[in-house]
Amino acid sequence: MTIMRVLGIETSCDETGVALYDTEHGLLADALFSQVAMHADYGGVVPELASRDHTRKLLPLVDEVLAEANLTRGDLDGIAYTAGPGLAGALMVGAATAHGLALALERPVLGVHHMEGHLLAPMLEDEPPAFPFVALLVSGGHTQLVEVQGIGRYQLLGESVDDAAGEAFDKAAKMLGLDYPGGPRVAKLAEQGDPKRLRFPRPMTDRPGLDFSFSGLKTHTLTTLRAFEAEGPLDDQARADIARAFEEAVVDTLVIKCRRALDQTGLKRLVVAGGVSANVRLRERLEHECAKRDARAYYPRGRFCTDNGAMIAYVGAQRLLAGERDEPGVFAARPRWP
Ligand code: KG4
Ligand code: ZN
Repeated sequence: MTIMRVLGIETSCDETGVALYDTEHGLLADALFSQVAMHADYGGVVPELASRDHTRKLLPLVDEVLAEANLTRGDLDGIAYTAGPGLAGALMVGAATAHGLALALERPVLGVHHMEGHLLAPMLEDEPPAFPFVALLVSGGHTQLVEVQGIGRYQLLGESVDDAAGEAFDKAAKMLGLDYPGGPRVAKLAEQGDPKRLRFPRPMTDRPGLDFSFSGLKTHTLTTLRAFEAEGPLDDQARADIARAFEEAVVDTLVIKCRRALDQTGLKRLVVAGGVSANVRLRERLEHECAKRDARAYYPRGRFCTDNGAMIAYVGAQRLLAGERDEPGVFAARPRWP
């Protein structure tokens, strides 16, 4: 088979994502149901509630994308799902549903890596990057720099030794009294902040290498907050200034390492993906850096920065087309898939 129409299923965390990707015509349809509002009441994702909600939403979303593309289940050539990393129960809902559909329809099925989905999400855009490129993966669970030679040909250049960038944003948000998910809220608050008032450290930038560390920034944020609170109740301007200093420190650290990775590899294309790639300040700074060295930055469109089914359908289609598949009926969720 040279053309494949693949259903992609993403259920690794708190978004139920489903999409249809056709290796000839590209993305045919995608649908997403976000559980964010439900988990916000608890200040974070509740795994058991996430699994139950995926179970409720998944098949209706499958029907929705098929209807949108004017197709029926019989028109599918294969099925891909996120096998990991993620929440075990949530992953299991996607895996079991995908294998059930595959068994009923007698079609091949494949479990794919969630981060490979993020990594290749920019391939869904009108002007996708050509291989090879450097990729900065910044999500709630990962901060990695990867040299990408082609599909499945990845070399890790550096990664966080502790917290992920998105995780740091979420923790800083909590300290500032902002709701989950914190990244976009910290960014919004930072817009009102004075960039000159406070300066936070840029961890691990004073020595060579491409690894990251963000847990110190969390402590620095807390210490700064305490220092302000010792002076009296925290006013809105101080909160905004802290948010701004925090965002600048994370963004600057990411930019410094991206610059190094481009110099080290000699590559001129930089892909930025994962939830934190939605950060406007990060994009502005990277645009500027790329322009200076005749390089180009590539991002997924806004809704494909965070978790979605389209990136899973894309990766699944490439790999299924190359002949990869799960053994029928044999599957496992891999919560900590490296
Ligand atoms: O990729 P993603 O949707 O889920 C994971 O696989 O982790 O990333 C979610 C992360 C969260 O930590 C969220 O706070 C962060 O991405 N995030 C942002 C922004 N939008 C989402 N962080 C900073 N600025 C943003 N605009
Ligand atoms: Zn993700």
